[in-house]
Amino acid sequence: MTAPCVPDGERGLRGRVVLVTGAASGIGRAQVLRFLEEGARVVATDRDAGGLATLPGAGDGCLTVAADVTWREDVARLVGTAVESHGRIDVLSNTAGILDGFARSLDTSEELWERVFAVNVTAVFRLTNAVLPGMLAQGRGTVVNVASVASFVAGGGGAAYTASKHALLGYTRQLASDYGRRGIKVNAVCPGLVETGMTRERLAEPESRFMKAATAVPSGRYGQPDEIAAVAVFLAKPDSDFMQGAAVMVDGGLTIR
Ligand SMILES: NC(=O)c1ccc[n+]([C@@H]2O[C@H](COP(=O)([O-])OP(=O)(O)OC[C@H]3O[C@@H](n4cnc5c(N)ncnc54)[C@H](O)[C@@H]3O)[C@@H](O)[C@H]2O)c1
Repeated sequence: MTAPCVPDGERGLRGRVVLVTGAASGIGRAQVLRFLEEGARVVATDRDAGGLATLPGAGDGCLTVAADVTWREDVARLVGTAVESHGRIDVLSNTAGILDGFARSLDTSEELWERVFAVNVTAVFRLTNAVLPGMLAQGRGTVVNVASVASFVAGGGGAAYTASKHALLGYTRQLASDYGRRGIKVNAVCPGLVETGMTRERLAEPESRFMKAATAVPSGRYGQPDEIAAVAVFLAKPDSDFMQGAAVMVDGGLTIR
């Protein structure tokens, strides 16, 4: 019998410092709850300070920092606060993202295009670059990027969203390729349609394209935020340490046909 690559006592996330963006709602919020259950020390951030304040455990095991990830100063303050409080960051989950109203290219203003890329791509690059030096110095770190089925196929968003999620997956793979040998694990989770603040209104209309898309997938339903969070947590754990630059589809089978 071969020995496990990771000793049993080191498989969990107890005491690990996890920074989650987009933590006030949906998939980010669900991750915060799961990471706390795992015994991690969570830094939860979002631009929605009111939403952050309603997180169970806020101020007690879970440090909340209101910040807009598209603002350079906010990113510097966020990482500074996390490191000052906990000494380091072990896991970065880039979850904050925005949709583009499914606008086709001709209906996409440059302003909308730039706003979507600012949140879904540039902020991920900037925050990752702010956190990576510390991870490299400790010889270990994990980045989980919340990408999308829109990282692979058209129709999961409009022109800007689909392009941004393709870019995010490319960035994920390049990061893994560049830093994997230096102890950094980088992977993406790619959700299909999930009931969150981003989709709830449209899902409330029984005849909406969302509802039709949800029931057309092999699982016959849309997903819940916790089903994505479960995979994000797995990607953060040592159990997934041989995964590198992977795109894990959690989409009810949407992309298999
Ligand atoms: N819901 C879905 O069906 C679905 C499908 C595929 C991928 N995703 C991705 O999942 C991620 C999470 O989205 P969600 O569905 O939980 O949506 P959500 O709207 O419920 O949550 C997104 C959170 O990100 C925050 N946010 C947005 N812009 C920000 C900024 N500039 N600075 C800080 N915080 C910001 C929002 O305040 C919000 O709390 C996104 O990257 C999204 O693209 C969602």
